[in-house]
Order: sequence, then structure tokens, then C-alpha cells
Amino acid sequence: MTQFKKDEILYERAKKVLPGGASRNQVLRQPHPVYAASASGSYLTDVNGKQYIDFSANIGSLIHGHAHPKIVEAVYEQMKKGTAYMVATEVEVEYAEYMIERIPSFGKLRFLNSGTEAVMHLIKVSRAFTGKSKIAKCEGAYHGTYDVIEVSEKPNPSNWGDKKRPNSVPHTPGVPKGVLDSVIVLPFNDLENTMNILEAHKNDLACVLIDPMPHRINMEPASKEYVNTIYEWTRKNGSLLCFDEVITFRVNYSGLQEYYNVKPDLTSLGKIIGGGFPIGAFGGRDDIMEVLDPIGKYYKYPLSGTFSANPISLIAGLTAMKLFDQDAVNNLNALTDKARSFIQEAINIAQVPVSMSGIGSIIRLHFSDKVPADYRENYFNETNQKEAIKKFIDYLYDNGIICVNSLSFFFNTTMTDKEIEILADKVLSAFREVKPYFK
Ligand SMILES: Cc1ncc(COP(=O)(O)O)c(C=O)c1O
Repeated sequence: MTQFKKDEILYERAKKVLPGGASRNQVLRQPHPVYAASASGSYLTDVNGKQYIDFSANIGSLIHGHAHPKIVEAVYEQMKKGTAYMVATEVEVEYAEYMIERIPSFGKLRFLNSGTEAVMHLIKVSRAFTGKSKIAKCEGAYHGTYDVIEVSEKPNPSNWGDKKRPNSVPHTPGVPKGVLDSVIVLPFNDLENTMNILEAHKNDLACVLIDPMPHRINMEPASKEYVNTIYEWTRKNGSLLCFDEVITFRVNYSGLQEYYNVKPDLTSLGKIIGGGFPIGAFGGRDDIMEVLDPIGKYYKYPLSGTFSANPISLIAGLTAMKLFDQDAVNNLNALTDKARSFIQEAINIAQVPVSMSGIGSIIRLHFSDKVPADYRENYFNETNQKEAIKKFIDYLYDNGIICVNSLSFFFNTTMTDKEIEILADKVLSAFREVKPYFK
């Protein structure tokens, strides 16, 4: 009689009750997802007892790996005192003070439950403050899951239009035309065409939203010139410059914005600031954030949320951020740089056309000689190398390495030379294995 493994059985059950067999598409794999049994530090064990080193960090959100003892202890202590109240808490005040100290562009902030919510409310605050309704975002940039911000998240050659002036493409059927008209799409890091587009909409833009190192485009930082010029343009045209640092906050002590000469007006955060629990936050200039103050003179935007600022996410997040101090950031980035050089060595030895992007504690591989310059180049490259990419990721999973489907690797503070040496070794054998599939 055939012996089915526990993950096969779970997937059969899952398909009957969850569309596609899961609640989030990222976990789906063929022939079935990996089902976690437990995880600690950088290691995850599945329901069959197989162990992996986890370079996904739940898509970049676990800066100290899984179940860090200090975070577990802080959460356990808080759980005994209650998990959510309809009254305020001390930890909310303490965490807000801490973040404002840590991020120079923050005068005030609000806590929410996800990165999606953070971006959504940041946009609504921009509209409330400027009195304008349109926003601009980059083609191919991912900012979460709701209509406005999904516009042109994943366009294709049949609908993306002229590269100099990309179309606003709906992500799902039935998106109202008004939504599409309200989102102006920019070619990432292409200064000349970006400025032409902005000029054409100069009276209408509440904000220009930029992920300074967009993972779905190419995981390459926007140039200083690009960011500075947009910043200056927004000063002149009554618009705001907003950063989405839901992923990139981990690369420096105060986020990737530390690298630029300008302070964004508003910034959205998520992922690592929850210490492994659901969270989002956005913050920025005092005068802008005043639109949220119900007793202030400029109140325009009532914002509530049942689980916003719940003490579990906040105590976990505050503990995680205090542990991720400047030394921890530096050490983690140095370890990741070492991994980068090991992977480069593997590329050279295997002689495969692979390039790398990402900075700080993030590495993304591209199955092309050079890092794609924009979303469209990345699209063609990924389409072309689909088979090699799939085989590469399958090989890594089979050999005990979890990474993100975009070929991204997120490092965490519990990693040591041991884990990156194993990674380099597996990556080299994976390159050798998939070399025949490169196009
Ligand atoms: C840049 C960016 N913004 C926003 C989000 C949405 O965050 P969440 O999944 O917490 O809603 C993500 C998620 O990956 C992201 O990468």
C-alpha cells in the first residue's frame, strides 16, 4: 500500500477548504507546500522531520530568525496580561518614542497591522494633507494588496504600453476606471521620463511613492539623483515624497533612507518592526501627521483599527528593534557581504550567467549577466529563464535551503559563517545542476 507523507495528506485536505490549498500564494509549491512543524533561529523543520535553513525569513520579516528567546519571553509575559485592549498601552508610547529617536524623518507615527495598511493610510494621509487625489508609483513596484497600489504591479507586454509613459494597468478584473486614472505610473530610476510624466500631472499629485529598492523590479537602490530630483520637484509642486520601506528598513539602522540626502515626508514600515508578529506603521513630518489628530486644528482623517497597536506585536517589535542596534545591523550586513562574495565565487566557478543585487542583509540573484535595469528587463529575463529559475529553487528546497521565489535571500542575526558556507555550497551545486537549462 502507498504510504502518503504528512505534507501530501495535508495538501489534499487543504485543497478542499482553501482556494489553491493555501491562504497566501507564496507558500504554494509543486507537488505540495512545505508544512512547518517548528522553527528556531535560522532553522525550520517540516512535518516530515526534514530540516531547512530558512533564507526567506518569512519574506524578510524575521530579522532575528524564528522564536528568538528574548522576543518569546517578552510576548509570553505580555500574553499573561492580555493581548488586546480598547484602551491605550505604555508599550505603544515607548515604541513610538523609540522609533522617532531612531528615524530622523519621523516626527510622529501610527501603528497598524500590516505593510499593506501602512501604505494605504500613508496615501490617504497624503491626500488629506495636500487636498489632491492622484498618486504616482513605479511600474512593477509591489506595495501590498489593494486596488490603488496594485496598479501596474505586474503588467505584461500586451498591456504595459510605451516605456516612456507606461499605462496604468489593473491587477485584477473589475478595477474601477477611477482607480486607474488616479494612479500615475513611472519608469523606475529613469529620471528623464519620470520627470516628463510628473510635469504632465503637476497639479494633481498628492504624493510620489517610491520603494527605494523595489524587490519585484530589480532589488537595486534608486539613484541619489533620481530620489533628490523627485524630492525637489515635490517641493515645488505641492506634493509629498513618500518612501515604502516595508522591506528596506532592515538595510540600515534608520532604513535605506539613511543613504539619501533628503528626508521623505512620510514612510511606511512593516515586517521586521513586528518582531515576527503582524504589524505596519507609517510616520513622518509632524505637520502632515496632524491630519490624524482629532483634537488638533488640522484634523481631517479619522483612523482606527481593532488590532492596531496591539501590545503583542508592539512588545515583540520593540524587543526586536532594540536587539537590532547599530552593531547588530553592521554585523549582519558584514555577514551578508561575505555571503555575497561566496556566491560570486560560485558564479565564477560554475560559469553561469548570474548577477546579484540587493544591499545590506538582502541578496537577490538574477539569471542574467547583468542586473536588469527596470521592470521590463526583469520581466523578459524571468520569462526567458523560467525553467532554470524553477529548477534552481526546487534544488535548493530539496537540499534544505528555503529562499523567496524571486530568488531573494534574507539574512538574520542568528546566522553565522556556518549557514552561509552551507548556502554557498548548495548554491554552487544548484548552479551546476541547472546550467543546461539556462537560455
Ligand atoms: C515594499 C512592500 N510594501 C508593502 C508590502 C505589504 O506588506 P504586508 O504583506 O505586511 O501587507 C510588502 C510586502 O511584501 C512590501 O514588500
